[in-house]
Amino acid sequence: MTLQKSFEPDILGFLCNWCSYAGADLAGVSRFQYPPNVRIIRVMCSARVDPTIVIEAFIRGLDGAMVLGCHPGDCHYMTGNYYTERRIKTTKKILKTLGLSPDRLLVDWVSASEGERFANLVKEFIGRVRKLGPLGNETDLEPQQLKTRLIAAKESLALQRIRWLVGRERELVENENVFGEKISQEEFDQLMLRTVEKEFAKRRILLSIAGDSFSVSEIAQTVGASPKEVLRNIVSLERDGLISVVKIEGNSPKYRKTGGH
Ligand code: FES
Repeated sequence: MTLQKSFEPDILGFLCNWCSYAGADLAGVSRFQYPPNVRIIRVMCSARVDPTIVIEAFIRGLDGAMVLGCHPGDCHYMTGNYYTERRIKTTKKILKTLGLSPDRLLVDWVSASEGERFANLVKEFIGRVRKLGPLGNETDLEPQQLKTRLIAAKESLALQRIRWLVGRERELVENENVFGEKISQEEFDQLMLRTVEKEFAKRRILLSIAGDSFSVSEIAQTVGASPKEVLRNIVSLERDGLISVVKIEGNSPKYRKTGGH
């Protein structure tokens, strides 16, 4: 009988210099035990952790990522962790859209004096990811399909219009616009998710036609969307100059990527 080796997740931890990293340091000095599965990256503030970096960690096959910063109100850059919390919330929703469990991503706060809390958070998080299994375990996707989706998500999050929304969130939900209107947090969250999902669908089309030309129905088959939806996105991509018709076969136009996008 062969004993099956239990799964040990690979975790990436982003720790802010001023609180969480010092907390991790204290955990080490105080000999609070935690599993060695986590690789730590020190950042000056948790807000430095762009959602694209988190997605990149998953593209590279990590099973979970944690972003730890100073407690709310204690950020050395005043509002950094406010943005961190919002960005991670959006990133979790994107993971869900991709079919991945949002529990693979953790955002939490650890102060410099909370060595024990740091060790406990790490233990708890690793236990949670261990239960989920290797990245993609919760989906029916082949590893390459998952990777392509993650790349599309990363490219969407890197777009200027998404960055603009992420950067303006506080202003939009806390202040009134010139017409005296204010967007509620819920409305903003929905707007954000809709925008990211739209861009994600378009990036998937672009990735699916890399290096060749395809018809709408062929693209629809590859990305698993309806031809109607694909056509709508193609019109938008054509308008942005990212895709063009290169030939007509039968009655079907064949599309190809333009430029180096
Ligand atoms: Fe720690 Fe901003 S400095 S979260």
